[in-house]
Amino acid sequence: MSKVPVITVDGPSGTGKGTICGLLAEKLNWHLLDSGALYRVVALAAEQQSLSMDDEAALARLAATLDLKFENKGIGQDIVVIYEDKDITQAIRTEKCGNAASLVAALATVRESLLNRQREFRQLPGLIADGRDMGTIVFPDAELKVFLTASPAERAERRYKQLIGKGISVNLRDLSADIAERDKRDKERLVSPLIPAEDAIVIDTTKSDIEAVNKQILSLVGKRFTDLATFV
Ligand code: DC
Repeated sequence: MSKVPVITVDGPSGTGKGTICGLLAEKLNWHLLDSGALYRVVALAAEQQSLSMDDEAALARLAATLDLKFENKGIGQDIVVIYEDKDITQAIRTEKCGNAASLVAALATVRESLLNRQREFRQLPGLIADGRDMGTIVFPDAELKVFLTASPAERAERRYKQLIGKGISVNLRDLSADIAERDKRDKERLVSPLIPAEDAIVIDTTKSDIEAVNKQILSLVGKRFTDLATFV
């Protein structure tokens, strides 16, 4: 059997990654992996179980045994996340949870525990994988790798609007500081740091809106997957 095609979309938060991945998955009718949600669930579950962020063995055990389901509700909707039969879709979206996710994500054994679970998403007809290390570690043989960037100020502004839109109250200055700290940790960690794969196409989205970025990526998809060219 020929291998299942994968498109990886990596980059820091606020680059439009999540929206782009949702649009691509919808357009191609492929599966979608939101890998950040996995790290967020580990962080939330660790908090609920009062696990220390220093207890790497316990956190890795937790990551390896998560009773977790993702339900894709379609375009513009967050993927519904069910943990131990509870809907935690909104609970994992807070900045606090994002920061805790970045902390657990720096632990090598936690990442190792989540590796197979991520690879299991690779199913026909194809997978759109959203994350930080999709193109470098999880799916190094992906057919198309995109890495999105944007200036820190623009990313903070976008994230601010996104959170306000969801009714979550935030302060732009605190948010910018949190994002800078999280980026630094994600980029400088020893395991699977946030860097583009050597064969990734880097797209700076600072001055582009989502439609323009989506169009650019669809054109790359059409070139890379000639069987999809007329479709995209
Ligand atoms: O994309 P996100 O904001 O939901 O991700 C939350 C954190 O999880 C992010 O700060 C770093 C970590 N993460 C990671 O290390 N590797 C991934 N593939 C996805 C997310």
